Amino acid sequence: MLTRVPQLLSKDQVRHFRQVLEQTPWVDGKVTAGAQSAVAKHNLQVPEDAPQARELGQIILGALGRNEAFVSAALPMRVFPPLFNRYEPGMGFKAHVDNAVRFAPGLVRMRTDVSSTLFLSEPDEYDGGELVIEDTYGEHRVKFEAGDLVVYPATSLHRVEPVTRGARWASFFWSQSMVRDEGQRRTLYDLDRAIQDIRAEVSDAHHGVITLTGVYHNLLRRWGEM
Ligand code: NI
Repeated sequence: MLTRVPQLLSKDQVRHFRQVLEQTPWVDGKVTAGAQSAVAKHNLQVPEDAPQARELGQIILGALGRNEAFVSAALPMRVFPPLFNRYEPGMGFKAHVDNAVRFAPGLVRMRTDVSSTLFLSEPDEYDGGELVIEDTYGEHRVKFEAGDLVVYPATSLHRVEPVTRGARWASFFWSQSMVRDEGQRRTLYDLDRAIQDIRAEVSDAHHGVITLTGVYHNLLRRWGEM
């Protein structure tokens, strides 16, 4: 399941991010790649410990915590500090699956269940650079507006098409979910959305709404690890 979170950041925030990132030193993106993906990866990244990455990362984490669509889709237990990357003409990232385990600063070990990409360039600023995510339904080509976020299972094979003009700026990060199994996470997401749809039509005191909300929480209790 691929979820679009529109305007996680406002256009003003995106402008601020771009201004800060323009002043930031960039390094070869292979620094955070595993052995297989180092061969596939060709881009630029802000070093993980750069103060700019920390500052902007905090803004993203704050926005994620307040965003119902992200929380519903990812059911996050931990979010890895956001990283920043940039693809210029000739750069891309061939098909790979992200590492299963990450060590966050301070050496907290986390499992990557959910991957996210936050677009920081408008689609007309570059050619190519689509994020292509494969699942059992085929390939999904993603190129969203600046400020939009895409959330997808970290188990997916994915790639970034080569950029042929302009530059593609983004932030990316992983979450460990309270619900490890993708099918269970999807079921909870569908149930949550259905409950919201029904609540818009009938009173919150409707017995069916109360029962379904209880079912949601009881499934989360059954499937979640906290
Ligand atoms: Ni990746």
